[in-house]
Amino acid sequence: MNHFELRDGEMFCEDVSLAQVAGAVGTPVYVYSSATLERHFTVLETALAEAGLKGEDGRAPLIAYAVKANPNLAVLATLARLGAGADTVSEGEIRRALAAGVPPERIVFSGVGKQAGEIRFALEAGISEINVESEPEMRLVARVSRDIGRRVRIAFRVNPDVTAGGHAKIATGGADNKFGVSFSEAERLYAEAAGDPWLQPVGLTCHIGSQITALAPMEAAFGRMRDLVERLRARGLEVRRLDLGGGLGVPYFNQPEPPSPSAYAAMVAGVMAGLDIALAFEPGRVIAANAGILLARVLHIHERPEGRRFVVLDAAMNDLIRPAMYDAYHDLRPVQPRPGATAIADVVGPVCETGDTFTRDRELPPLESGDLVAFMSAGAYGASMSSEYNSRLLVPEVLVRGEDWAVVRPRPTYEDMLSRDARPPWLD
Ligand code: LLP
Repeated sequence: MNHFELRDGEMFCEDVSLAQVAGAVGTPVYVYSSATLERHFTVLETALAEAGLKGEDGRAPLIAYAVKANPNLAVLATLARLGAGADTVSEGEIRRALAAGVPPERIVFSGVGKQAGEIRFALEAGISEINVESEPEMRLVARVSRDIGRRVRIAFRVNPDVTAGGHAKIATGGADNKFGVSFSEAERLYAEAAGDPWLQPVGLTCHIGSQITALAPMEAAFGRMRDLVERLRARGLEVRRLDLGGGLGVPYFNQPEPPSPSAYAAMVAGVMAGLDIALAFEPGRVIAANAGILLARVLHIHERPEGRRFVVLDAAMNDLIRPAMYDAYHDLRPVQPRPGATAIADVVGPVCETGDTFTRDRELPPLESGDLVAFMSAGAYGASMSSEYNSRLLVPEVLVRGEDWAVVRPRPTYEDMLSRDARPPWLD
């Protein structure tokens, strides 16, 4: 459920008119709903609790929101106030999580290419755990912890060799993907780390992909993770924690209906029954995707006499890259719907390549030049993947709460954009 609904023929975000936001801030602009973010977090938290799942010291499982989905500080702070932790993959993300008020002991650090400086920063900030993805990385983490004289809690990210996810580019759990160590490596490295004075292996983690709409692959992967926990424990190694990653899909309109958070939680409870272990999760999309839209304006309707019809928007692939990158489907709705018949069109942006096509041959409600449209389900991996390609200004972001709204990332000026480049002295 989300809070983007028509009221008297006009789309609102909570109690704020989107036309009013567009009038004040201009388009394109991302608009996020606090109530939807909060609801998604709470629904997941409740589902995990009702399934009887536990985190450390008998507390609720850690929900470490995947910052990459939507790293805006206001979004992070909204979730931090509800008790969310953060799954981070760079020093920048750790800094964002800390700046938004996520306590360091709720931050985990993942990613296949962590650098010494980032690991050092993470350790000095006192983050909860480093998710180690390879043997060379384990050695690097041990070296950094020795250098700063602080023992570090690590978990091994294991690649469970299960393929899942909405698109090949976002599947991470297959044996030929770059992520994590294999089961045999995990057993060997866990034992080695347990004997290293600078490393404290506390558990295991896995993340098999994103936009997963079936429970079966997750169930298979989690079962293999459970087996590994039992094998390690049988060798006398302590395994306290199991982080099951993110990946739960959302309904993108034309996709299979994903499992509900409660079905997901019940599946986890079934797989982990009788295993005494602290669970953690790293959801991104399921919290943020349907909490945001990209608001854009129709620039022209271009109808070729030969028959193709193009709806040209002021938003482009640099603002929302998911359709170009993953052939993703985002529902497109008029903000102030007009009466009339639907028509087939391609929806495109102004960027100079054919990839800047949001959708082809889509049946759309009546649209005219100047109309506002909303790309739905754009709160995750929307603004976070935006760029300035074609020297278009970085897209701004707005957060709504009830009747209130605020610009939480302003649109830069052209001066801002140009001032970041420098002229070498020989060109003066
Ligand atoms: N944990 C780890 C280690 C991850 O790599 C990811 C996402 C997550 C958690 C969160 O997954 P989620 O719950 O959001 O599915 N840009 C792509 C999605 C890439 C996901 C990368 N990893 C897209 O727009 O679909």
